[in-house]
Amino acid sequence: MPHLVFMSLLVHQCTPQLVQKRSNQMQKSKTNFPDLSALIPVMPEPGKRSRALYTAIRRLIETGQLPAGAKLPTTRDLARRLGLSRGAAVDAYEVLIAEGFAEARVGAGTFVAAEVPQLKADVPEIVDDGADYSGPPHPCTLGIAIADERTRRVFRQLLHRRLERPQPNFYSYGDPRGEHELRQAIADYARVARGVRCHPGQVVVTSGIRHGLDLVMRAALHPGDAVWVEDPCYLSAQATITGVGLRTVPVPVDREGIDVAAGEVIGGKAKAVYCTPSHQFPLGVTLTMRRRLALIDWAKRNDAWIFEDDYDSEFRFSGPPLASIQGMDDAGRVIYLGSFSKVLFPGLRIGYAILPEPLVEPVLAQRQQMDRQPPSLPQGAIADLLNEGHFAAHLRRVRKRAEACRDALVDGLGAGGNSFSVAAPEQGLHLIVSLADEFDDEKLVTAAAEAGIGALPLSTHYLAAPIRKGLVLGYSGFEPEDLRRAGKKLAGIVHDLSPATADGP
Ligand SMILES: Cc1ncc(COP(=O)(O)O)c(C=O)c1O
Repeated sequence: MPHLVFMSLLVHQCTPQLVQKRSNQMQKSKTNFPDLSALIPVMPEPGKRSRALYTAIRRLIETGQLPAGAKLPTTRDLARRLGLSRGAAVDAYEVLIAEGFAEARVGAGTFVAAEVPQLKADVPEIVDDGADYSGPPHPCTLGIAIADERTRRVFRQLLHRRLERPQPNFYSYGDPRGEHELRQAIADYARVARGVRCHPGQVVVTSGIRHGLDLVMRAALHPGDAVWVEDPCYLSAQATITGVGLRTVPVPVDREGIDVAAGEVIGGKAKAVYCTPSHQFPLGVTLTMRRRLALIDWAKRNDAWIFEDDYDSEFRFSGPPLASIQGMDDAGRVIYLGSFSKVLFPGLRIGYAILPEPLVEPVLAQRQQMDRQPPSLPQGAIADLLNEGHFAAHLRRVRKRAEACRDALVDGLGAGGNSFSVAAPEQGLHLIVSLADEFDDEKLVTAAAEAGIGALPLSTHYLAAPIRKGLVLGYSGFEPEDLRRAGKKLAGIVHDLSPATADGP
């Protein structure tokens, strides 16, 4: 919807020459609108169209794409072009006028107001993350996952088979939750592997955990609401949350995971919490059972939502896995977020959100406006992978391989002496090299990058809690021998840049 509106409205801010040029291209059209009839099938299904239209125009105004004073099309033209009732267009304009985004001038039409409310200041600037995506990643870079040759071959065959026998859903718009067979397969898998209590109707296929977070937070919360985040935190998720217009409240993490009692003191009235209970990112601790119960209790008392990010629980090497919080919650407060980014590969961009029943409709309405539905082709192949037993075999192989990679990196790093300490994690695809407070971990990361090693500083993941120094290292997606070498080299760098060495006699 927004881009349809965008196209038609843009004409009104074009220079007269451009409008003339475009209207010539429009052949017989009597108005200044491009012919949108070919785009009509992507219109959202019936629902609150006046609201969707209002939101789309407002966004164009707020972002400056429709400048102050620009003339808006007549409600009649807009309604005709977008296949809406005229009443929907009139309602949308009335709200825009009432809120000061537009003004009606008698006899002249409706215009963008001379002064309009600006976008909220807490929407983060889009920044270049500085990463170089062009070449192969340096060993220890986080967020890399490569399916092995056997899985790639099977996946290729499944994709090929799907393309050979395309289903009607390739040629049309489908369920905004995603394909039923994949949702069923995900529900079965999450029930067995993570103790999630759900049926396929609660599953929404997303393009990853961050997309799920964005989508569900938009539907479940209101701009300005407070959301607890772990401190230290997965910074990308924090950026997603503030990007939705929410306020993050950092809650410290200790050996038991997020400190619920501290959260109640700092910001007890928050409307949601975003957390990584199975394997806290970045520290790697598992939320204890009593903290899980405390979190659920807090959510119940405050009518708050728990966003449970379960990004890497497939990689459990030893010790009993704790079931998901979703499976323990008897009050329907948990949104469970899963992903195929780690367990298959991130470039797939397929994840899932498992929703409490009351959130299904609002989330689907949100999705209709956003990206309509997930892509059919990978969904079909992933459903086959899960349903035909390939995934279970794949899991056994990748888990074993990840364990070997972890061991190689730990071995390469060695004992650390007075400079650092490292513990082999029982789960996941990253580890922490702990450093004394005197270290400058950002400087170490720069030195590591110069030596061809990808690492992140632990200290920059803290939002408010007293920082700990360290290095966050990934060990998936690389050969064990490369990790061993990288570990050895890194240990040398840490030793060379140790404040003790620098200040020594
Ligand atoms: C804590 C955490 N959550 C989620 C993800 C994955 O997100 P996505 O599914 O959007 O690729 C990552 C990836 O690195 C992560 O570290």
